[in-house]
Amino acid sequence: MLEERASFGSKLGMILATAGGAVGLGNVWRFPYMAGQNGGAAFILIYIGCVLLLGIPCMVSEFIIGRHGASNTYRAYSKMSHGNAWKFVGLLGVLTGYLITGYYAVVSGWCLQYIYASVAGQLHGDPSFVKSYFQSFSTDPIRPIIWLVAILLITHFVIIHGVRGGIERASKLLMPTLFVLLLVIVVASCMLPGADKGIDFLFKPDFGKVDRGLFLGALGQSFYSLSIAMGCICTYASYYTRQTNLLQSAVQISVIDSLVAILAGLMIFPAAFSVGVNPDSGPSLIFITLPNVFNQAFASMPILGWVISLLFYALLSLAALTSLMSLHEVSTAFFYEELHITRDKGAVIVTVTTIIIGAFCSLSLGQFDGLRIGDKSLFDVFDFVTGQIFLPLGGFLTCLFLGWFVPKRLVKDEFTNWGTVSGRFFGVFLFLVRFVCPLAILSIFLHQFNVI
Ligand code: PFF
Repeated sequence: MLEERASFGSKLGMILATAGGAVGLGNVWRFPYMAGQNGGAAFILIYIGCVLLLGIPCMVSEFIIGRHGASNTYRAYSKMSHGNAWKFVGLLGVLTGYLITGYYAVVSGWCLQYIYASVAGQLHGDPSFVKSYFQSFSTDPIRPIIWLVAILLITHFVIIHGVRGGIERASKLLMPTLFVLLLVIVVASCMLPGADKGIDFLFKPDFGKVDRGLFLGALGQSFYSLSIAMGCICTYASYYTRQTNLLQSAVQISVIDSLVAILAGLMIFPAAFSVGVNPDSGPSLIFITLPNVFNQAFASMPILGWVISLLFYALLSLAALTSLMSLHEVSTAFFYEELHITRDKGAVIVTVTTIIIGAFCSLSLGQFDGLRIGDKSLFDVFDFVTGQIFLPLGGFLTCLFLGWFVPKRLVKDEFTNWGTVSGRFFGVFLFLVRFVCPLAILSIFLHQFNVI
């Protein structure tokens, strides 16, 4: 039985929920490293350029499809294309979001374990101890799965309370908390002796490092960070009202996402440089390098180190949880609307099946080491297929669909809220979506396979 279509209750709630979907582990474990390695402020400027010229137009395109369809991503594409083959691009978005949920939840569960480990004082020790702690935990057959189940149950709890009572309410609480935690850790990190070297590393522009690879790296990161082509943006936009100014909202969400990414750099580099550690990226940064940095940086004030470590993993867990909510919602909306069941039953299907997917991903790192495709574990395969193949493919096809196949009148009506907001940027938007975005996405795709 279909329930009445929900919508976000306030502009603030809508912005915080969508920004919560975008702000995630990628902001903390990938952006700062890329910026530091690739010319600091030079990279940040290029990244901002990519967000403005490519990320925002793609986000607005998904907003238009989602709000117009007022339904799950598959059906939204289907409605806009009158049921022709473009609907499969929507289905690809749902599939991408669904597959990411499982492995993203595994890492989110690790963050919860590290909150516990910080409180229990289990992360104290020399660097080799911290490394072996992570290795033995992440390859354990039971403990990561318990945390995986825990984080998915928390997500489930939010999702079954609906769009307003669950997602919007939780986002209004979690996102400001995340900001406060971030600012507290940034201040603590920047006050450490020698912190200025880290600030220099992040912000000193080095235009000598700018090359084509850097452009494409910045572009790929901007898409991942804004959660483009994963169904999330389109699904949340299906809960937007006719009054929502789509361009303005996309700009606000992108500003929040980029700000969190830059602040994450200010949290990591000053602390790392103050103890002479060169930060890396990915899981090893947040689960091995940073616990060591906290141990060393606050060696003379262990209580402060303990508090900062706790706050840091709480921050990561919140960032991961708000992203997981958006991912979960993509498939929940799909299942309950397409199978004509209740929202609660749709959510149960997603929670149970993604626990199973996540459990296999987790086990593929240890117990089921044989669960490999080529030289990649199942975990890495999911990451690769969704991030490097489905994401660019979905983004590329979405731009072609909206830019070339949807009637221009309809796109303009959605863009200008039926003539009630300015259409000043419509021409630029359409040009970017028709030409610049598809070409740029195609280049990322070919570049990552070394074709160009
Ligand atoms: N944008 C999130 C991040 O930067 O970590 C990751 C993400 C969330 C990707 C949700 C995809 C998604 F659907």
